[in-house]
This record gives sequence, structure tokens and C-alpha cells, in this order.
Amino acid sequence: MEIVILPDSETIGRITANAIEELIARKPGSVLGLATGSSPLSVYDELARRYREEGLSFASARAFALDEYVGLPVGHTESYREVINREFTNKVDIPAENVSCPDGTEGNIAASGEVYEKSIQAAGGVDLQILGIGSNGHIGFNEPGSSLSSRTRVKTLLAQTRQDNARFFDNLDDVPRHVVTQGLGTIMEARHIVLIACGIGKAQAVRAFAEGPVSAFCPASVLQMHPHVTVLTDEEAASSLQLSSYYRETYANKPTWQSI
Ligand code: GLP
Repeated sequence: MEIVILPDSETIGRITANAIEELIARKPGSVLGLATGSSPLSVYDELARRYREEGLSFASARAFALDEYVGLPVGHTESYREVINREFTNKVDIPAENVSCPDGTEGNIAASGEVYEKSIQAAGGVDLQILGIGSNGHIGFNEPGSSLSSRTRVKTLLAQTRQDNARFFDNLDDVPRHVVTQGLGTIMEARHIVLIACGIGKAQAVRAFAEGPVSAFCPASVLQMHPHVTVLTDEEAASSLQLSSYYRETYANKPTWQSI
């Protein structure tokens, strides 16, 4: 796991966009794994800017969202499909039919996980997965206690997660209790994973997942078992890391030909 401590989210956005641009140059039909939340916004803004100003094209790319709320009406502004479209995919030239999201509509829930797994597989798997992290260490919506080999399925949100996400809804009661999320085993199959964490509210989660034991209690810790994970943090999110001076030294001396 490579941990890179950066000055701000704009720099994080630029470095992640560089990796995505290189990937697309190498493989125009790349499969991107997209996360919602505030963490990846600087990446999406930078990719949209490169599309508008520099001709970076996503015309042959595929994208899979990590998760979706259960029970929100189709088109609800806070459904993750709408959020992904609004924050990223509507701003670039990726065809709408190339963007997939787990189906959270109530009638389709039982089959939703398996259908989603099959469509990721049919696309050849995710090349680069962007992740944020919940304050309790969740990735996607894999709450503490999630099986480290779980597949896409329905999960129940912790009260803390509903509270964290209540800012996007009129009130806490409107935050769904259930979600469909890619499992930890699903996420682990992505070829490269870039986890972004910013702000002091993530400091404990970053310390726990990167330097603590691998444990279902801190779902993101499973990433320690992945061969190619890049963790991009700002100073605040890195402030509890024990080996921060080593991570800084490593990055400062990284060979110039080596990308993240
Ligand atoms: C939600 C999403 C996660 C995201 C997390 C953190 O729970 N399901 O994918 O990583 O929020 O969000 P933020 O980046 O806004 O802190």
C-alpha cells in the first residue's frame, strides 16, 4: 500500500486524474470504478476540465458505481445514480449506457447483487477503483462487520453513517436504512485502487485501516491484502499516522518514471 500525503484536495484530484488519463491512453475501453461522497469530487472536476479543455475522452470507457440506496424513487436527487451523473458522467463524453449503478429499487432487490456482479465481470472487471472512506472505516457501504470476502449485496447502515449522510437529505428520517453495495471481495478484484481521504474527521479511520490490524471491524483494512492500492490523503487525514515521515520520504524519492 502506497500512502501519499499531499497538501490539498486539488493536488489529490490532479494526481488521480493523471493515473486515469494514463490508463485511458493505454486502454481506451477502461473500466472505472466510481465512488460518491465529497472525497472524489476534485478528481471528477479535474477529469471534466481535461475533457472540456484538453480533449480527454471517455467515449469508450465503462463505469461502475460502488453502491446505491435502497428504496429511493428513480431520479431522486440523492440516489447515487443521480449523484454520479451530476458530479461526473454528465460532464464528460462517456455514453449513458456505459455507466452502471446497483439497482436499489425495491422490486429488484433480491437479484440486484448477482446481476451487478455479472455485469462487472462481463465488462472485464474494474481497472481503477476510486474509493472514499467512511469515518468508521467503511468503503462502499461495507459497514464494520462486513465479510472481507463479501460480494454485492444489501446492507443495513449504521446509525453513524446515516447521521454522516443526513447532510444530503432534508432530515435524518429521510436517509434510507438499506443499501446495495459492492462487497469487499468485489472491490478487491479491481486492478488498481485509489483511496482518497481528506479532513480531520478521517484521521482515525485512516490510521486504523492503514496501520491497524486487518479486521472486518475496520472494513477498509482489507486493502492491506491488495497488491496495488494508493492512498491519497491531505495533512489532516494523515495526522494520526505513525509512519508519516516514512511515507513522505518514500514519495519524495519516488522515481520520476513511476506513476501511482
Ligand atoms: C458514503 C459512501 C462511501 C463514501 C463515504 C465517505 O458512505 N457510500 O462510498 O466513501 O460516504 O463520504 P465522503 O467522501 O463524503 O466523506
